[in-house]
Amino acid sequence: MDLFEYQARDLFAKHGVPVLAGEVIDTPEAAREATERLGGKSVVKAQVKVGGRGKAGGVKLAATPDEAVARATDILGMDIKGHTVHKVMIAETAPEIAEEYYVSYLLDRTNRTFLAMASVAGGMDIEEVAATTPEKLAKVPVDANEGVSIEKAREIVAQAQFPAEVAEKVAEVMVTLWKTFIAEDALLVEVNPLAKVASGDVIALDGKVSLDANAEFRQPEHEALEDKDAANPLEAAAKAKGLNYVKLDGQVGIIGNGAGLVMSTLDVVAYAGEKHNNVKPANFLDIGGGASAEVMANGLEIILGDPDVKSVFVNVFGGITACDEVAKGIVQALELLKSKGEEVTKPLVVRLDGNNAELGRQILSEANHPLVQRVDTMDGAADKAAELAAK
Ligand SMILES: Nc1ncnc2c1ncn2[C@@H]1O[C@H](COP(=O)(O)OP(=O)(O)OP(=O)(O)O)[C@@H](O)[C@H]1O
Ligand SMILES: [Mg+2]
Repeated sequence: MDLFEYQARDLFAKHGVPVLAGEVIDTPEAAREATERLGGKSVVKAQVKVGGRGKAGGVKLAATPDEAVARATDILGMDIKGHTVHKVMIAETAPEIAEEYYVSYLLDRTNRTFLAMASVAGGMDIEEVAATTPEKLAKVPVDANEGVSIEKAREIVAQAQFPAEVAEKVAEVMVTLWKTFIAEDALLVEVNPLAKVASGDVIALDGKVSLDANAEFRQPEHEALEDKDAANPLEAAAKAKGLNYVKLDGQVGIIGNGAGLVMSTLDVVAYAGEKHNNVKPANFLDIGGGASAEVMANGLEIILGDPDVKSVFVNVFGGITACDEVAKGIVQALELLKSKGEEVTKPLVVRLDGNNAELGRQILSEANHPLVQRVDTMDGAADKAAELAAK
C-alpha cells in the first residue's frame, strides 16, 4: 500500500526522522487558518500518489494566508498524471534550502536483500540523475539481520560522498529512516529531498512510503491509512464478500477457480479479443476451490454489477470440487440472482473441464438457460465470450 506524503511524514515524525510541521486539508478556505498557524506563510502541496507533483504545478509557495487560499484553489481538483487532487498539505516553509539530497531504503527482490540508496544530487531531477549519472547514486546492500547501525549509516553516507559538514546528520537520518522501514514493515521509504537548510540541519521535505500488505496482521494501525475514497467500489464490495477480485478495464467478465487458471484465462481472452474489436478482460476473479452456489452467485453479482461488462466467461477446471457441483452452483446462482430481482441480462459462456465434466455439462444443458452457452474448450470459450462482448 502506497501512502500519501502527509502519511509518510507522520510515520517519519513517529520514528524520529526530522520533518517540518504540516496539516492536510480538503477545502481552499482551510488553507488560510493552517497557514496562519504556521506563522503566515506555507508551502501548498498536492497529495496524490504519483511522482513529479512539483513539476506538474502541484507544489507552490504561499507568502501570505490569502495566497495559500489562492494556491489551494488552483491545486485542489487539479489532475496530475491521471490522479485528481482531493487533499493538499499545508506545510511549514523550509528556511533557505542550501542543498537537496536523496535517501531511501527498499526491498531489493532481485538480490534478495534490502538496499540503501543515497545521493547528494537529490531533488526533482533524481530520476534523471539515476538514469544518466548512476555513479552519483550510491547503492549499499543492507543485511536483514544486521540492519543499519550508526556505523553502517556512516558507511552509506561515505559511499554517497556527502560533504563532511552534513555527513553525521545524514547518517543519523539513515538510522531513524531504517527504524521507520523496519517498525512499519515497509517495502520502500524514500526521502526526496532531504534538504540542508540555513542552520546546517537536514530535514525531510518529501517522503514516499510503501507498506507491505503481507504484514497487515501485525500492523493494526495501518488500516486507518487506507484511502477508502479511492478504493474501487466493485473491489470494495468484493472484499466485503471475501472474494479475490481485481477490476480491470476491459469488457469480458471473468470467473475461474484457482489463481493460475484465472491468470491464464485473462491471457486467452486478451488474445481472442484481438480478433473481436480488441475487447479485453474486465476483471480477475478467483472463486477458489470449493465454489458453492453462493460463492458463484456472489461472484456473478459483482461482475454483472460492472457496467463495462458485456459478456461473462466462467472457466472452471474441476478438481477437488467436481464440475457437477460447479454446474449446480451456476444454475442455483442464476436462480438466486433472479429471486433477488437481479436477473442476468448479459450472456454467459461456460467452460467446464476436469473432474465430472460430462455430468456438469449435462446439468447446464438441462437447465437450458437462454443466456448461458456451453463451450467445452478454453480457447473456444474465450473466443465466444470475446465475440459476444464485441457485439
Ligand atoms: N516545505 C517546503 N519548504 C520549502 N520548499 C519545499 C518544501 N517542500 C518542497 N519544497 C520544494 O519543492 C520541491 C518539490 O517538492 P516535493 O519533493 O515535495 O515534490 P515532488 O514533485 O513530489 O518531488 P518528486 O516527485 O521528485 O518526489 C522540493 O524539491 C523543494 O525544493
Ligand atoms: Mg520529492
